Amino acid sequence: MRRPILAANWKMQKTNAEALAFADTLLPLVAEASDVDIVIAPPFTCLAKLSARLQGSPIQPAAQNVNPEASGAFTGEVAPGMLVELACAYTIVGHSERRSLYGEGDDFISRKALALLAHGIRPIVCVGETLEEREAEHTEAVVGAQLEGSLAGIDPADVSQVVIAYEPVWAIGTGRTATPETAQDAHAFIRSCLRDGFGNAAESIRIQYGGSVKPENVDSLMSQADIDGALVGGASLEAASFARIVNFEGVEG
Ligand code: 13P
Repeated sequence: MRRPILAANWKMQKTNAEALAFADTLLPLVAEASDVDIVIAPPFTCLAKLSARLQGSPIQPAAQNVNPEASGAFTGEVAPGMLVELACAYTIVGHSERRSLYGEGDDFISRKALALLAHGIRPIVCVGETLEEREAEHTEAVVGAQLEGSLAGIDPADVSQVVIAYEPVWAIGTGRTATPETAQDAHAFIRSCLRDGFGNAAESIRIQYGGSVKPENVDSLMSQADIDGALVGGASLEAASFARIVNFEGVEG
C-alpha cells in the first residue's frame, strides 16, 4: 500500500509572513489527515522560518530546487547540505518550468536526485510531455526518456525514496486537467518503466499527478490505481483549498 503524498508547490509566491500565516491556518484543517504525507515547497527565502514553524507537525517542508554540488562558486545556487540544515524532507527536481525556462536536462536532474538521496532528502522527480508531444503521440517516448535519464544511477535499494510527479505541461497552470483516465494511463506507463528499471521496487514508488489539481477534481484523480498523490501549484496557495485537497475523499483516517 502506497502512502498518499499531497504536496504544495508555491513556485515564486509568498513572503515569510504569508507563509507563516498559511501554516497557522492550514494546520488545524489537516489535523485529521493522519494517513497521508503533507508537503509544502515554499520559495527558498521562506524555508527556514516555515520549517521551524512546522517542526513537530504532520506537514513536512520541501525545497523547489537544489544544486548537486556540495559547495563552491555557483552564484545563486543552494546545496543539498544547506537543505538538510533546514530539515527539508523532500526537494522537487526537474520541474517543467526549470526544464523549459532554465534549460535543465535529464543528466543534471539525475545528479540532483543522487545528491539529495546521499543527503537523506527524498527527490520529487518531475516528468511530463508538452501539448505538441502529446498530439504527435510521443507522450510515452518523451516520458520514458525523461524517467530513464532523470533516474540514471539510482540504486534499486534507494529508489523507493524517490517520488515521481507526472505533470503534463499542457495541464500546468492552464485550468485544463488531464482526465482521471488519461492521467491513470500515463501513471500506469510510468510504473511499467519503473518496473523495467528497478523491478519490484516499482510497486512502492509513489507517483503524483500535477497540473491544475483542484478541490473539484482531486477525488476522481486520487481514486485511480496508480495515482498516489498530487503536486499542486495554484490551488495550494490558499489554505482552505489545499486542505480540501489533502482531505481528499477516500483517504483513510
Ligand atoms: P498548477 O496546479 O497551478 O497547474 O501547477 C502544477 C505544478 O506545476 C505543480 O508543480
